[in-house]
Amino acid sequence: VPALVALERRSRASVLANIVAAARLRDAVILLAEVDALYDDRGELASDHRDALASIPGVVIATTSGRGHVELHRPQLSITMPRMELVDRDRAWTFALQHHGGQPTDAAELAGRYVIGPGAIAEVVGEAQRYAAAAGTPLDRDALEASVGRRLTVRLGTYGTVVHRKALFSELVLPDDVVDTLHDMVAMVRERTKILEQWGYQRHLGISRGVSGLFSGEPGTGKTMAASVVASELGLELVRIDLSAVVSKYVGETEKNLGKIFDEAQDAHAMLLFDEADSLFGKRTELKSAQDRFANLEVNYILQRMETFDGVSVLTTNAEAAIDPALQRRLNFRIRFPEPEPDEREQLWRRLLPPQAGLHEALDFAALADKFDMTGGYIKNAVVRAAVIAARAGRALTADDLWAGAHHEYVEMGKVMPQLAR
Ligand SMILES: Nc1ncnc2c1ncn2[C@@H]1O[C@H](COP(=O)(O)OP(=O)(O)OP(=O)(O)O)[C@@H](O)[C@H]1O
Ligand SMILES: [Mg+2]
Repeated sequence: VPALVALERRSRASVLANIVAAARLRDAVILLAEVDALYDDRGELASDHRDALASIPGVVIATTSGRGHVELHRPQLSITMPRMELVDRDRAWTFALQHHGGQPTDAAELAGRYVIGPGAIAEVVGEAQRYAAAAGTPLDRDALEASVGRRLTVRLGTYGTVVHRKALFSELVLPDDVVDTLHDMVAMVRERTKILEQWGYQRHLGISRGVSGLFSGEPGTGKTMAASVVASELGLELVRIDLSAVVSKYVGETEKNLGKIFDEAQDAHAMLLFDEADSLFGKRTELKSAQDRFANLEVNYILQRMETFDGVSVLTTNAEAAIDPALQRRLNFRIRFPEPEPDEREQLWRRLLPPQAGLHEALDFAALADKFDMTGGYIKNAVVRAAVIAARAGRALTADDLWAGAHHEYVEMGKVMPQLAR
């Protein structure tokens, strides 16, 4: 249907007439796939579309992935395909894997991880098998994960990207209470899946099994990284939403875009990351202009959807104060990421400098950490900057380069060098 609607009006009518004639010749039923394309934003049918629908004789089958009712203006029977339960997904994965020469032993885990239907499962496994065959590699877990990721990327279009590089708990440098809370978040997701799906609570009580988090803190304190840790710990695909692409200047469009993202993520069982939500607030954190207030409406919409979302979602911000506290409370986890203390900064320097640099023995990390009060993100930049300085000079990295890199970042942060501040 979307392809048909895209045609010019006159050719549309003749194409449809041909289709109807062909169907009659073969005694076939017409299937209108993605019929929603006929309707406008308010769910109304334009009159020529209505006439076209009326002109199709006999039985018509229309499909939609939308959640609402579609009125075809002819006697109609609506069937809602139920969401597949864990056991059904398990069976679909087992079947598809057997069919394509994969390991059916992976089925249970895949079924728990991805809430997708049997058609999607068959497509994912088939595609993974073709890719693996072309690359001469086995149809293993990695091949299947990559295939799910590609499918999701295509469906999200320009709004989001699948984050492939995910960090581990062991790489985080954060106070124990913050790490503990992150572990709680992971545990809550695991337990909920078990309780709601295996014990049948979801069907019975209609509880949402979503788990949501608000990560706030200064730039570079590890918010984005922590979200990727949670995703990797849970074995979930992580989708980072580009809010600047989603936010439209047309009122109402943004919510439609966001709604689509939540639906896609729900289907793919992906974790959603609304990163740097403050890009919605403009520069200032206090809400002064009408535009800022408008932006806050969008954030409030995201927070509301997060509350009812059936998966894991995280919003990160530098400007926690700009978000309505009443809405904040409705999210399951609100985690404040503190700026690192000197000993944490020392650890960050140690970890972020690659071991191959060969400087770990010689370097006074404590002195660097002591001198430069900066977050992990800036330390990472400083390490990269130092490598650039060394590469340009055509020699190996030295301790001086790290000091110089740190200095550059410090100035760019808008801070004054400690010894100059006197
Ligand atoms: N607490 C931390 N532990 C370990 N590494 C960190 C930490 N914080 C920052 N880093 C390093 O700095 C990089 C940038 O951090 P990250 O993007 O997670 O910060 P952020 O809080 O999301 O910042 P922003 O508010 O600017 O988006 C990380 O990829 C990581 O290498
Ligand atoms: Mg970030």
